[in-house]
Amino acid sequence: MTSRFDLTDRVAIVTGGSRGLGLAMARAFAEHGADVVIASRKGDACERAAAEIGARTGRRALGVAFHAGKWSDCERLLDAAHAALGRIDVLVNNAGMSPLYPSLSGISEELWDKVLAVNLKGPFRLAALAAERMAQQDRGGSIINVSSVGAVQPTVGELPYAMAKSALHTMAAAMAHDYAGRVRVNVIMPGAFLTDISKAWPPEMRSMMERQIPMGRCGEPDEIVGAALYLASDASSYTSGAVIKIDGGWAYRAG
Ligand SMILES: NC(=O)c1ccc[n+]([C@@H]2O[C@H](COP(=O)([O-])OP(=O)(O)OC[C@H]3O[C@@H](n4cnc5c(N)ncnc54)[C@H](OP(=O)(O)O)[C@@H]3O)[C@@H](O)[C@H]2O)c1
Repeated sequence: MTSRFDLTDRVAIVTGGSRGLGLAMARAFAEHGADVVIASRKGDACERAAAEIGARTGRRALGVAFHAGKWSDCERLLDAAHAALGRIDVLVNNAGMSPLYPSLSGISEELWDKVLAVNLKGPFRLAALAAERMAQQDRGGSIINVSSVGAVQPTVGELPYAMAKSALHTMAAAMAHDYAGRVRVNVIMPGAFLTDISKAWPPEMRSMMERQIPMGRCGEPDEIVGAALYLASDASSYTSGAVIKIDGGWAYRAG
């Protein structure tokens, strides 16, 4: 069974791979044999993360400056990955953000556009372009979109973000259908994880969530890795259009 999780000679792109959940996934992919591309806005942070992963695993690792909300960056990222590593087997659409705002009516058009661009518009474009390239490869490919429990239990405090994330579920369902056996398209739906995002939570938010989460705690970044390895590898060869929630049992519960 172990060999089905092997990623030797696969190439995986992880957006938002310089920190948090993305970095944990990129490290795990390389530890299982993949060459990795780390892409986020700060190119130097991506290069540092890539150097650390390369030194630790002996795999090829590339850092690329990339803005997830810009369509021109999507094509450029895929070209850079292809040029350096020769193919793209796995794409993780992981970069995302949810800025705070005062009220629904206080959301500016600029904030709306930015949140929808980074969490939906860019991931859509990147998935569409990557799927086309993957479909032409011998082994096809796997696209993993990182959403949020906010997609299925939205609150007014993060509504544009939640709307964008739920649209990733719609996108995965459609692409999984369309690309059938060639490209598998799935979603990881995280609950509350202790990354840099959690540092911006208002006071009391963590303890409030921990009272709601059946497991009574937030997740550590490493706890996303099992699902990511499963979906990236042949272990999930019959899985497409799935939403896997990693949330300590939180989503779909009242309260
Ligand atoms: N942590 C949670 O509790 C939680 C819960 C539900 C869902 N999620 C989702 O999980 C994913 C990862 O979250 P995280 O907690 O690991 O976040 P994080 O620790 O804040 O890291 C965010 C990553 O995304 C990159 N990034 C941010 N904006 C970007 C942009 N416009 N273009 C390209 N890269 C960008 C950041 O690097 P740069 O600053 O260099 O760009 C960084 O690598 C996100 O999609 C998030 O919505 C997280």
